[in-house]
Amino acid sequence: MKHLLKLLDLSKEEITLILDTADKLKAEQKAGKKHDFPAGKTLAMIFEKNSTRTRVSFETGIFQLGGHGIFLSNADSQLGRGESIADTARVLSRYNDCIMIRTFGQDGVEELAKYASIPVINALTDFEHPCQLLADLMTIREHKGKLEGLKAVWIGDGNNVANSMIAGCLKCGMDVSVACPEGYRPDKKILDFAAGVTDCKFELTDDPKIAAKNADVIFTDVWASMGQEGETEKRKIAFAGYCVDSELMALANTGCMVQHCLPAHKGEEISEEVFEKHAQEIFDEAENRLHVQKGIMYLLMK
Ligand code: CP
Ligand code: NVA
Repeated sequence: MKHLLKLLDLSKEEITLILDTADKLKAEQKAGKKHDFPAGKTLAMIFEKNSTRTRVSFETGIFQLGGHGIFLSNADSQLGRGESIADTARVLSRYNDCIMIRTFGQDGVEELAKYASIPVINALTDFEHPCQLLADLMTIREHKGKLEGLKAVWIGDGNNVANSMIAGCLKCGMDVSVACPEGYRPDKKILDFAAGVTDCKFELTDDPKIAAKNADVIFTDVWASMGQEGETEKRKIAFAGYCVDSELMALANTGCMVQHCLPAHKGEEISEEVFEKHAQEIFDEAENRLHVQKGIMYLLMK
């Protein structure tokens, strides 16, 4: 594995290696043990969109590995004044050991990886959010003891997190059911991948009640992602009936988990009651961003 650009690129073995490495680093950190990682590595962190979790977990993660993170936003880097991704990639490659980028188009991440001579990590594009799903898979494995054979359900917008959820869960041997309104379905490349999977089930419906039946884990996310703020009101109408509430949870298996990448809009995609009932799992998920990204950086930089 040279970069982490999208889960669609990864094999089940590569995903498992990242999760195993994350588990090991988490156990070492909890035991107060030093990680076996070369000191002084630097991570350039490009943010073209807002972030709380991703910024703090990457910056904390590289620090805990004995290195240093450098925050670059559009507001204060030359990217914001039009310097190309190709030139930025070649410059940062002369100073740093790895680049993390949060941007709009997936082509931006792919372009960065094409010109960089160091590993590149996708920290969210409009197409995928691979670090999020790896943290979610880690959390599910911690709570359920396995991934294979579980039923994972997506309720709501077929967005970047949904794309990664479908690719990641199917690759890990989970059955996947997705409920989205027409017009808000996951990306065609993801649906084509899902259609070719033969060893687990994939279902796409516009009825949340059909999808939620016998779920072992239900995922949801905001109805309007970053960059779609202008569609907020239109989306509230399109997604009416797509709230993960106690009525929907009653259709799932006993012990069904809830995963939400956060930030959450309670009362929209998830009820306050379901959120609070599953807060332990949701904040474990947020914590595991740190451990899984340390695992990714460990594997890419060591
Ligand atoms: N889940 C997630 O990526 O959160 P941030 O936008 O706060 O980084
Ligand atoms: N789908 C959301 C995820 C935020 C972490 C967005 O792209 O804004």
